Amino acid sequence: MCVYCNAGIFGGVRDSTWSSMRNMVIPLYQPARLAGLIPTMQSYVDALVDNIAGCPDQDCIPFCQLSLCMAIDIIGKTAFGIEFGLSRKAADTAAGDDGDGDDDDDVKEFLREYKKSMEFIKMDLSSSLSTILGLFLPCVQTPCKRLLRRVPGTADYKMDQNERRLCRRIDAIIAGRRRDRDAGDGAALDFIAALLDARESGGGGHGGFALEDRHVRALAYEHLIAGTKTTAFTVSSVVYLVSCHPRVEERLLREIDGFAPRGRVPGADELHAGLPYLNQVIKEAMRFHLVSPLIARETSEPVEIAGHLLPKGTYVWLAPGVLARDAAQFPEPEEFRPERFAAGAAEERARHPYAHIPFGIGPRACVGHRFALQQVKLAAVGLYRRYVFRHSPAMESPLQFDFDLVLAFRHGVKLRAIKRTNT
Ligand code: HEM
Repeated sequence: MCVYCNAGIFGGVRDSTWSSMRNMVIPLYQPARLAGLIPTMQSYVDALVDNIAGCPDQDCIPFCQLSLCMAIDIIGKTAFGIEFGLSRKAADTAAGDDGDGDDDDDVKEFLREYKKSMEFIKMDLSSSLSTILGLFLPCVQTPCKRLLRRVPGTADYKMDQNERRLCRRIDAIIAGRRRDRDAGDGAALDFIAALLDARESGGGGHGGFALEDRHVRALAYEHLIAGTKTTAFTVSSVVYLVSCHPRVEERLLREIDGFAPRGRVPGADELHAGLPYLNQVIKEAMRFHLVSPLIARETSEPVEIAGHLLPKGTYVWLAPGVLARDAAQFPEPEEFRPERFAAGAAEERARHPYAHIPFGIGPRACVGHRFALQQVKLAAVGLYRRYVFRHSPAMESPLQFDFDLVLAFRHGVKLRAIKRTNT
């Protein structure tokens, strides 16, 4: 059981309900379906590249913001079937238009509530009392949260109100998707439409489980929270690290230039198997800056780990970032060296299979990892076909991070974009 459920982040479901919901979601991330999402993802990658081109200060591109716009827009379209328009707004803002004129108010409110949700789930001492207590005394988190969310003025109360508002908006989107379906508006690719289809065709009946609207809402909410900052951070981290490792950059550009004609969008198989060095770069970036600092579990039955007997109900916290810097598994762990992940390399062969687990591990591991990797690879190909990057003079050194539920560059990643002339 994942302890984050206690924070209400993942819809508050657990055990058999979680397992049934997860079974519903897994088919949505199968390779054939992901391949169908490439054109949608690519359109937002193109918008990211255009936004870089249109940035008024080419010496100080606010890369984290732009990549977050891309990631939220992609989830908006693929999970909810709606256009959040953040990438477009970023372009309008760069052009001196604040974009307010024709912005959709509902979308703006939705995004405001999304942002608040991300702030509320901070895993530090600035968070809500129940979240802070959960860090030290997980067993009191749920009762404390239930109590405090009724007390106006507390962070738990505000978090609960915000969550309710966001959920009402998601409910309205679900109702809209259902109306589209009933009106026979083509085969929608988005996640909510696919779940509604699965429910109609009886696919929601695993082990007697009936998928209700509240489950669809929980799943959509979960994707919005789990699938945006994570992916945006990974793209930013790749670009930040490559920009200060010229040898890596050179090899990466060679691979990207050589694997397909420049104007052609790579296919799913090419992304999966045709870019081995990019794969290594992404793995190494995800080791170097580990996106999810904590993976948490509550034991649902007694279990023995390394000779320690943990009774049922024990909270277990795992810090994959510590594993990722273990010199026994990753020699010279402070060096950014993608080749350590080369298939067949001695280091790769000698490594424990669970030493590198940026997407978690076991039955609760990240369900969206293929989706995320497809997006990160498309973004890398799109960006490096047009640009190379250097750190902006405004980029801080050494880097500072915020260690929340998802790792974040405290002051963003600021880059200089240099147009490639030979392509
Ligand atoms: C680079 C990007 C990403 C990283 C590093 C990442 C990492 C993680 C990690 C560490 C977990 C917890 C695993 C565990 O407890 O063992 C997780 C869970 C999850 N992730 Fe991701 N994730 C990423 C992108 C995404 C995307 C794009 C989506 C959806 C489109 C997504 C959906 C989920 C969901 C639904 C869960 C909960 C799974 C469950 O509880 O059954 N993630 N992710």
